Amino acid sequence: MRAMTIPEPGGPEALVWAEVPDPRPGPGEVVVDVRATAVNRADLLQRQGHYPPPPGAPAYPGLECSGVVSAVGPDVTGWTEGQEVCALLAGGGYAERVAVPAGQLLPVPAGVDVVDAAALPEVACTVWSNVVKLAGLAKGETLLVHGGGSGIGTFAVQLGVALGATVVVTARAAKHERLRELGAAHTVDYREQDFVEEVRRVTDGRGADVILDIIGGAYLPRNVAALATGGRLVVIGMQGGRKGELDLGMLLAKRASVHATALRSRPLDEKAQIVRGVREQVWPLVEAGTVRPVVDRRLPLTDAAEAHRLVETNDHLGKVLLVR
Ligand SMILES: NC(=O)c1ccc[n+]([C@@H]2O[C@H](COP(=O)([O-])OP(=O)(O)OC[C@H]3O[C@@H](n4cnc5c(N)ncnc54)[C@H](OP(=O)(O)O)[C@@H]3O)[C@@H](O)[C@H]2O)c1
Repeated sequence: MRAMTIPEPGGPEALVWAEVPDPRPGPGEVVVDVRATAVNRADLLQRQGHYPPPPGAPAYPGLECSGVVSAVGPDVTGWTEGQEVCALLAGGGYAERVAVPAGQLLPVPAGVDVVDAAALPEVACTVWSNVVKLAGLAKGETLLVHGGGSGIGTFAVQLGVALGATVVVTARAAKHERLRELGAAHTVDYREQDFVEEVRRVTDGRGADVILDIIGGAYLPRNVAALATGGRLVVIGMQGGRKGELDLGMLLAKRASVHATALRSRPLDEKAQIVRGVREQVWPLVEAGTVRPVVDRRLPLTDAAEAHRLVETNDHLGKVLLVR
């Protein structure tokens, strides 16, 4: 088969479409014929040589895909050849075929096009496991989503609203209108406004109950300042660096908590548990049309370099899909 290889780390031109060995399904795995994959921020880091795939994962980028099951390995039940699926991957989505642990497969939700389904697994699993399972976002609470226009952000806004939360987002101004259409109650232009002041203003001084953060170090002191009493900050990205000052006095006075998680490196059984939870709790919302894939555009998989250039500018809103 062919896949998007990275012979030498570097800029977008480092991505090379090349002949590679065909994947074979090991015990507990299926092989998916890839119809589409999506660009995740992590793929850019992997291409630059900063985020190697975990042991055992395919060497090519691609943390999710959609397609058709083309082979089923031993010890797999519930999946058959010819079935349309989407999948959470540890890597290897930028390819014609990929072997996937069966626990990371999801059916294509009813009413969603098989190509658009590639936009869902990574964001659904990341947002649900952090905002719902870990932070326990409850109806009536306020959720602050940093980077509301990202793939992660556009999903988090919709899921937060579906759960009955008031959602506040940070994003550049050009993305605000679309984010309000997705259900954000308040939009903050982080380039012009102080998000701590804005969150306090719209919550009558209370602050955010849950913050989903992709900036990390640079936002840590202000995120803690923006938390409500009993608030939960979940850091899932470090676009603003890995180190920041943590005011423990403020944290304990608020009885608040700070968490940080990564999905890709979790053990298989934890990923399977998250995928099951997403299927039970999120898929019905997708099938009802309450939560939808937000697709900025589709590009051919062979144009992955172009897609990476686009994502590096942050001009996209939602997911950029790579289609075969
Ligand atoms: N830990 C995990 O398991 C996990 C899993 C998936 C993703 N992630 C992380 O989640 C983040 C989003 O991933 P993605 O693939 O959805 O990204 P993406 O679509 O490439 O979006 C990145 C976003 O960052 C925003 N941004 C940049 N600087 C900002 C700032 N100072 N304040 C607020 N927003 C800012 C940009 O929005 P503007 O145009 O508005 O600037 C852009 O929308 C990444 O950091 C990624 O590594 C983590």
